[in-house]
Amino acid sequence: MLFEEERIRSRVAEMGAAIGADYAGQQLVLVTVLRGGLFFLADLCREIRLDMRLDFMAISSYGPAAHDDTGAVRVTKDLDEDIEGAHVLVVEDVIDTGLTLNYLLRTLRSRKPASLEVAVLLDRDQRRIADLPIAYRGFHMPDEFAVGYGLDLDGRHRNLRYIGVLAGHVLESRGVS
Ligand code: PRP
Repeated sequence: MLFEEERIRSRVAEMGAAIGADYAGQQLVLVTVLRGGLFFLADLCREIRLDMRLDFMAISSYGPAAHDDTGAVRVTKDLDEDIEGAHVLVVEDVIDTGLTLNYLLRTLRSRKPASLEVAVLLDRDQRRIADLPIAYRGFHMPDEFAVGYGLDLDGRHRNLRYIGVLAGHVLESRGVS
């Protein structure tokens, strides 16, 4: 067990309250990258007492990582709406190397939003390559293979209400070193 359900719930509530205070009176757009970020988004947005819109992007996966060796990401679903002049908050479940988000932020910034910030539940910064400005961070987490609350192993375990580390023998049996 890394983060129990109640601990996640209370931290997400704190983050939502902080975001609600910071963006008071502004039109907020929460942008999430499918698929893992969905669970955090669903809980976070309901803790933000503001008028807002939600929009989604999807990217294709290059094997185990979302980006290729150069950090480039292939966008398979773009935002549905124009973000020019909008206050955009990108909501991610986890940041590792930071390459995925670095690429997406560059793309989004070119569309001239009024502001562009990042909210991440899990900051796994031991392998960080791209230095990212993170405005809202749920937890720092160790460099371990975690599942649950959106995090997956081969697409499974996303629906767990908590975040846990798979036992060594399970990882071995699924070919994860
Ligand atoms: C995760 C996460 C980020 C990316 C972060 O997505 O949601 O998009 O990895 O990694 P990075 O910081 O090293 O670039 P994942 O590839 O697991 O896809 P998923 O959201 O569909 O689970």
